Amino acid sequence: MSVTPDPSQLDQLGRPLRSLRVSVTDRCNLRCSYCMPEEEYTWLPRERILDYEELTSLVRAFCATGVDRVRLTGGEPLLRRGLDQFVAQLTALEGLREVALTTNGIGLSEQAQPLVAAGLTRATVSLDTLRADRFTALTRRDALDRCLAGIEAARAAGLPLKLNMVVMRGTNDDELVEMLRYAGEIGAELRFIEYMDVGGATQWDAKTVVSREDILTRLSEASGAIEAEAAGAAPAQRFTLAASGQRFGIIASTTAPFCARCDRARLTADGRLFTCLYGREGLDLRGPLRAGEDGQALARRIQRAWGVRADRGAEERLALAERAALASQDELRRDPHLEMHTRGG
Ligand code: GTP
Ligand code: 5AD
Ligand code: SF4
Repeated sequence: MSVTPDPSQLDQLGRPLRSLRVSVTDRCNLRCSYCMPEEEYTWLPRERILDYEELTSLVRAFCATGVDRVRLTGGEPLLRRGLDQFVAQLTALEGLREVALTTNGIGLSEQAQPLVAAGLTRATVSLDTLRADRFTALTRRDALDRCLAGIEAARAAGLPLKLNMVVMRGTNDDELVEMLRYAGEIGAELRFIEYMDVGGATQWDAKTVVSREDILTRLSEASGAIEAEAAGAAPAQRFTLAASGQRFGIIASTTAPFCARCDRARLTADGRLFTCLYGREGLDLRGPLRAGEDGQALARRIQRAWGVRADRGAEERLALAERAALASQDELRRDPHLEMHTRGG
């Protein structure tokens, strides 16, 4: 007998499934040191990349299990042609209240306007420095101007913006105040992110992590009292500078993980479901989808995977006595699904 998917189903730790991160491509036009530090990568085979109709069918199945927020990620999602058409397909789905985007901003100059017209709700731009030489060293591409122009285009198109800054000791940790000032000027909420030991971050080292506590200490020394807001929606904890009223967030996934409240799943561009950023095993949905399985059956498949989920990857990492990069270069080459840029950040 077939069972209708139940959106109120919880996983083994009592968490519902509400948010889906869809990686539309594993390719990227930057090479950020905390994400893509190698010279060469194993890419997902082209024929396995799902087209927009296929991705939309999967997202529809996720909606039947309770997902009401989708975030498009990559690699760099704006490298995928016609992303606005995909956004339009998604916004037409019943039950989705948000379609957001995480991008490095480079493609926004051309695409912000069509994306907003297609119904994109908001965007987060990864920006780790405002200094051109530093940007080039950190991303191995001379592209700060294009990124800033993209941010301007997004503002002009009326897109609500957040900025993500991965804070690394000795790299960009002297720019906290400058970055906050810039975010204030453009009306974006800045989130400081602790450097995470995710797949692909092969240069990760505990000594280069600047913790939430460190970030708060440095900011209060420079800018005065800081008020913490009550814990709201993960992953960012929100704070306010008392003097100016400016709000910002800190994502402390390395020293204070939010696993207990994690309601997110990830779908890779080749249709694999991961129920944790650190998960080693994914569930293939491309096979059943291409074999013609219907939406209800796909939704039940997703729901079964969610029902047995007990993932708490970041908490497990925190409990390790010795902490180093999650996967070796060899492992990453053999299985690109372990890469942060394949599973959507
Ligand atoms: P909103 O809260 O909707 O604004 O989005 P977001 O913060 O989830 O998305 P974004 O793509 O901006 O991710 C910000 C940071 O949070 C990145 O460094 C992510 O890797 C991290 N992050 C996102 N999802 C997870 C997760 O499931 N687990 C952990 N540990 N970190 C995550
Ligand atoms: N640690 C913390 N954040 C990371 N991101 C990518 N790699 C890492 C890492 N090792 C961030 C990007 C982007 C988001 C999706 O994930 O900066 O903003
Ligand atoms: Fe590209 Fe984003 Fe990874 Fe940087 S963090 S290399 S922009 S996928």
